[in-house]
Amino acid sequence: MKRQVGVIGLGVMGKSLALNLANHGYEVSGFNRSFSKTKAIIDEHHDNFKGYETIEDFVSSLTLPRVILMMVPAGSAVDATIAQLRPLLSKGDILMDGGNSYFMDTNLRSLELEEEGIHYYGVGVSGGEKGALLGPSIMPSGDQEVYKIVGPILEDISAKKDGHPCCTYIGKEGSGHYVKMVHNGIEYADMQLIVEVYLFLKHYAGYSNQKIADVFESWNHDELKSYLFKISSAVLREKDPESEHDLVDIIMDRSGNKGTGRWTSIEALKQECNASLLTAAYQARIMSNQTNLRKIYGKKTESVFQDIDLEQLKMAYSLAKSLAFAQGFHLYEDASKRYEWNLDFAKIASIFRSGCIIQTNFLNTIMSVYETKDAEIFSSKMMLECIHKNESALLSIVEKGLKKHLAIPVLTNAYLFVTQLESTHLGANLIQGQRDYFGAHTYERIDREGFEHHDWNN
Ligand code: 6PG
Repeated sequence: MKRQVGVIGLGVMGKSLALNLANHGYEVSGFNRSFSKTKAIIDEHHDNFKGYETIEDFVSSLTLPRVILMMVPAGSAVDATIAQLRPLLSKGDILMDGGNSYFMDTNLRSLELEEEGIHYYGVGVSGGEKGALLGPSIMPSGDQEVYKIVGPILEDISAKKDGHPCCTYIGKEGSGHYVKMVHNGIEYADMQLIVEVYLFLKHYAGYSNQKIADVFESWNHDELKSYLFKISSAVLREKDPESEHDLVDIIMDRSGNKGTGRWTSIEALKQECNASLLTAAYQARIMSNQTNLRKIYGKKTESVFQDIDLEQLKMAYSLAKSLAFAQGFHLYEDASKRYEWNLDFAKIASIFRSGCIIQTNFLNTIMSVYETKDAEIFSSKMMLECIHKNESALLSIVEKGLKKHLAIPVLTNAYLFVTQLESTHLGANLIQGQRDYFGAHTYERIDREGFEHHDWNN
């Protein structure tokens, strides 16, 4: 029997992780605010799982130093759970938060608990319900010494890629939750890009859902191979059990979100990094919910279909996807310096290769970029070549899509981003003139160093 682990919060993810731990031979103690969820697992008679009705019994069932994984919704529920646990814990105990908590909250919670000698770990977990049960990708952060205790457990239950665990020590403080947050920003962008390809195939070329699924499957190889392509084909092929339609045509054209995509955009702005594709994907979800405005402005698109150059569409998708991942990794590069986290970008790419939602073969390419010392994603030969090879295909696709009124914000932003990278004139000279005119904010001249102010009214 391996060591004891407590899991608090037995919702979908908590239950799956508890069973994953139990299946790996850990002696799992479980507790949930309402006992019915705990009881349901007890009734399934899993080996190595014991459920408790009170938090006191749960805590005292664990030997010192206790290792507890919290799987409760991010926000106030995490604080409430900590408040309940705090008086019951002892110095040296380890409390892990496996939810999608905001990384700054994790920083604060770590500081507070460390004062009492309790080690706090922010643990990003990706993979959904099935991943959590069979092997998720795990991003743990906190005191590196404590990783000696929790690392082997988390690595044990994580997904494996070529025999290596998809779990690695990320860094101090809430860096694990930060890495997970940006993972989700990339997730939103790739999901939306697949949607934009779907819109092209359906409303530009008139393909059936089955035929679109065929295209996705035919692209789901080599660098483009991804979990999101796989599940998108499956979603497109599913029939509605209650009608003769494909289920996807019955699902309302309105998407939800739980906030991590929004946080990624907010952090990108704070960091002064351009994550335009990630933000466009989040905004696409917002627009989908503008039901009234969509009724007022909605135009029926004519169903005259045109031939589509599939290779061109594939190249456009491929470039936009590469840019979305690169914007995410650029955020990691900046955060690593800004917060002194010393992130290992190749390792982050490596643990995303299995178990998580954004797993794709393209991550191997990202890993190889970071094999060079001090490499930065946007200055890499890989990104330069990828842009040069695919940018004209992306432009053609964006032009065609916009002419046909297709809502393709991420593809369009991908092209705009490339234009901003490549353009020799951004007009910032005029901005500086305007700023200096109304606010004496100064500007730099091209012919000498230093900031100057001009007397515009003279
Ligand atoms: C994962 C997912 C997951 C995600 C939720 C909510 O990596 O397993 O990213 O953690 O956060 O499914 O996503 P939404 O914001 O789309 O609701």
